[in-house]
Amino acid sequence: MTISFDSYPSADGLWIDLRLPFQPGTNVAIVVEHGIVRWIGSPDSVPKDFLGLPTHEGGDALVTPGLVDCHTHLVYGGQRANEFAMRLAGASYEEVAKAGGGIVASVRATRAASEDELFSSASHRLQSLLSEGVCAIEIKSGYGLALEHERKQLRVARRLARAHGVTVRTTFLGAHALPPEYAGRPHGSRDYIDLVCNEMLPALAAEGLVDAVDVFCERIAFSLAETEQVFKAARALGLPIKLHAEQLSDMGGAALAARYDALSCDHIEHLSQAGIDAMREAGTVAVLLPGAFYTLRDTQLPPIAALRAAGVPMAVSTDHNPGTSPVLSLLLMVNMACTLFRLTVPEAIDGVTVHAARALGLQETHGTLAVGRPANFVLWDLQDAAELAYWFGQRPVRTVVRQGKIAVGSNRT
Ligand code: NIG
Ligand code: FE
Repeated sequence: MTISFDSYPSADGLWIDLRLPFQPGTNVAIVVEHGIVRWIGSPDSVPKDFLGLPTHEGGDALVTPGLVDCHTHLVYGGQRANEFAMRLAGASYEEVAKAGGGIVASVRATRAASEDELFSSASHRLQSLLSEGVCAIEIKSGYGLALEHERKQLRVARRLARAHGVTVRTTFLGAHALPPEYAGRPHGSRDYIDLVCNEMLPALAAEGLVDAVDVFCERIAFSLAETEQVFKAARALGLPIKLHAEQLSDMGGAALAARYDALSCDHIEHLSQAGIDAMREAGTVAVLLPGAFYTLRDTQLPPIAALRAAGVPMAVSTDHNPGTSPVLSLLLMVNMACTLFRLTVPEAIDGVTVHAARALGLQETHGTLAVGRPANFVLWDLQDAAELAYWFGQRPVRTVVRQGKIAVGSNRT
């Protein structure tokens, strides 16, 4: 596949005839210069300096900030459709894991794949997300579980950013599962977490491959004490943390993560009120992952009403991964956040823009349309912003402006 983001047309100029969500009757214009948003306002009051710029006709499209997918495991080898079939036949997520499937199956396939193979398969998946308006994405490691293979995943994530002109935040998830070679050992879990903290994380951070650190804190993964050990190692390196928290049980992970000023706690179906209070205090974002909830046919809903009452910001993401959330549509997650989790439409849209950006520490550059920011926005062929949540399987994107270039759509010349 040949990708040449550099050759995409510039989005510089005056964008006219656009509408903002939930503001019926308003018309808005946007000026982009050198890839940066310079001005936003009524078309009647465009400063005259900008009137001579090339014009991009918006065609009465709805305009939103570029979408942000704040939790993905996009880089991996193989696929796990066989487990889908096992679960249909009645096996639980935990049973699949105990039978040698689950995360370690993807570990085997990821270790066997070359960097180029991983880049090619992840590029293909990334294209789906980008075509729907994603302008920033988080990509976790966690299918290598050994220094060279975690490095390979993170290097691919950095390469995807360059090749596709998309903002990528990398998250080191060495503590995702116990690698098979540690599984039978007397102190396997302790030894592996020592390796993660003392060797893998410092080495990868020194190579500039790590923007944040995550742990899968769960009965079938790592304990609260092991999670805290990883958090301490991250803090020693000045790296922010995130957590796969309370997905299958209430481990108290969210409260621990909040004590370490976590950017986000993700999944959180079993989150307690104490966890919610701690997250509110720390300003930690709750990341909702309806794709995994749906795929696992979970019945335990995340505590949406309590999160809303506490004022904890809620983000929504694909959790794209080959086991529990093989989804490549962030808009479908917007739909499911509404239908399954009962978010309102504005909450779900904020969940894939402003709050998702905050879950990545990108709130200064992504997730809102504002002057001075890199031009990342999407024009939608929609009348009403509620249609972003209402349709599924439709592709309502007209144009994507990403990193100041016209990356997708009908404004391409
Ligand atoms: O976010 N919960 C743990 N990690 C992934 C699942 C990964 C897998 O099954 O491969 C998740 O759902
Ligand atoms: Fe995940």
